Amino acid sequence: MEFFLDTADVDEIREIAAWGILDGVTTNPSLIKNSGRDFKEVVREIAGICSGPISAEVTAMDTEGMIAQGLALKASLPDNVIIKIPCTAEGLAATKVLNERGIDTNVTLVFSAAQALMAAKAGATYVSPFIGRIDDTGHDGMNLIAEIMEVWASYEISTKVLAASIRHPTHVLQCIQLGVHTATMPAKIFRQLMKHPLTDKGLEGFMKDWEAVEAAGNA
Ligand code: E4P
Repeated sequence: MEFFLDTADVDEIREIAAWGILDGVTTNPSLIKNSGRDFKEVVREIAGICSGPISAEVTAMDTEGMIAQGLALKASLPDNVIIKIPCTAEGLAATKVLNERGIDTNVTLVFSAAQALMAAKAGATYVSPFIGRIDDTGHDGMNLIAEIMEVWASYEISTKVLAASIRHPTHVLQCIQLGVHTATMPAKIFRQLMKHPLTDKGLEGFMKDWEAVEAAGNA
């Protein structure tokens, strides 16, 4: 399973990349805004920190505009940058054209299994269903992931399911159990997934006993 960071904060990306298990990064216009930095400059820096796919989102609403932006981003940014496209009819058409030109895409803002399947048919490299935003409406976002994985099990689909809008570690664990290909999450969730009080307690005990071994001259 691939683990992506969902941020445009290069300090966080450096921190998690140093763990050696970071597979990619997703950004969106809101995350770029939060970074306070120039879009292309920050995406270029991110692509230099993490060699996996880095999603950069188009902002045009029409197919021709999305294609033009996608091509321009591919031409001016490092090779590992992929093009993030909203799941609209215009976005599907742009995804199809970019796919035919050999450009990897991430179709975002997916809220139904039908949308996910249509994005896959258009040739998306990744489809991004949003879990947390469904939870926010009072429904269970994990049901969407389960539905999509059920559809994926029935057909030969090469598009990867990229679980997005992840709000807590349990979302990630449930995605793992469902066989989701990729999860993108904030740095806070990476840290929460790694931390366990029994690991800390166990390590403290080992270190204390090792001091005794050293003090006895047996190290
Ligand atoms: C995915 O690519 C999106 O950037 C992200 O997961 C959105 O998450 P949010 O609902 O927390 O904004």
